Amino acid sequence: MADELFEKLFSLKGKTAVITGGYRGIGLTIARTLAEAGADVALAARSLSGCLAQADRIKRGYGVRSVGKSMDVCDSMSVDKVIREIYDEFGKIDILVNSAGTPGNEKPVLKMSDEDLDEVMSVNFRGTFFVSRAVARFMVARKSGKIINVSSILGKTSARNMAGYCASKAAVIQLTRVMALELMRDNIQVNALCPGYFLTDLNRDFFESDAGKGMVKKMIPMNRVGQLDELKSTALYLATCPPFMTGAEVYIDGGHTIA
Ligand SMILES: NC(=O)c1ccc[n+]([C@@H]2O[C@H](COP(=O)([O-])OP(=O)(O)OC[C@H]3O[C@@H](n4cnc5c(N)ncnc54)[C@H](OP(=O)(O)O)[C@@H]3O)[C@@H](O)[C@H]2O)c1
Repeated sequence: MADELFEKLFSLKGKTAVITGGYRGIGLTIARTLAEAGADVALAARSLSGCLAQADRIKRGYGVRSVGKSMDVCDSMSVDKVIREIYDEFGKIDILVNSAGTPGNEKPVLKMSDEDLDEVMSVNFRGTFFVSRAVARFMVARKSGKIINVSSILGKTSARNMAGYCASKAAVIQLTRVMALELMRDNIQVNALCPGYFLTDLNRDFFESDAGKGMVKKMIPMNRVGQLDELKSTALYLATCPPFMTGAEVYIDGGHTIA
């Protein structure tokens, strides 16, 4: 019974998923989860070697088809080309996970340069926009698809020295909501996954510092950062969610946003 229920609700056999930033951190955790549920996966980030290596491990570990592609999400021509290649290789794209992101240069607003702002908005917001637009064009033609945008609790709360990051992640939430509205008639669900603090390469230096440890104690009611495995069930849910669930923000944050 349990197996049948899982198969009916959560199996991704025969589905194809694209995961940007999919060879490490949160993106890799989600890519492995979707592959474990049966999806073929395409990992895309700037590091071709990183994507190829993890794609190969996923293929051997879960017996699904898996490819790695070099793609700069800031460059819409690169995005369109790579998404077309993935579509041609797999014949369809059922699921998109936008996980590519950067914390940007952490500085107070008065010290931020134009370039500091451009970089973080370009990767986190424009990148999510470019990839979603490219993939959604294929999804619309098939009247089916799920898009999961990895935003952050900082799309809702705020933190000093993080103006660009907070604004970019809030923009991702708004993009999620607008695309959910625009694409619902084409049976495409667009939702945002908003993690609190999880230990990855993006923030390891900070959370291992005294300042980081102090911040965790002070700000997170559970007094700890998240473990990447704690994102798996929500990622699988958002990849299989019913049509009625769209435009939502799902927070996984140890109580951070309610404190
Ligand atoms: N870790 C956390 O606590 C946390 C909390 C909330 C939200 N998030 C969000 O979760 C997502 C993943 O973060 P993470 O912690 O897993 O970080 P991570 O380990 O540093 O991974 C970031 C990924 O994004 C890719 N990337 C960066 N710039 C790119 C670009 N221009 N084009 C294509 N890919 C690019 C990186 O690959 P390349 O450098 O090879 O391109 C890498 O694969 C981000 O959107 C982040 O903002 C993280």
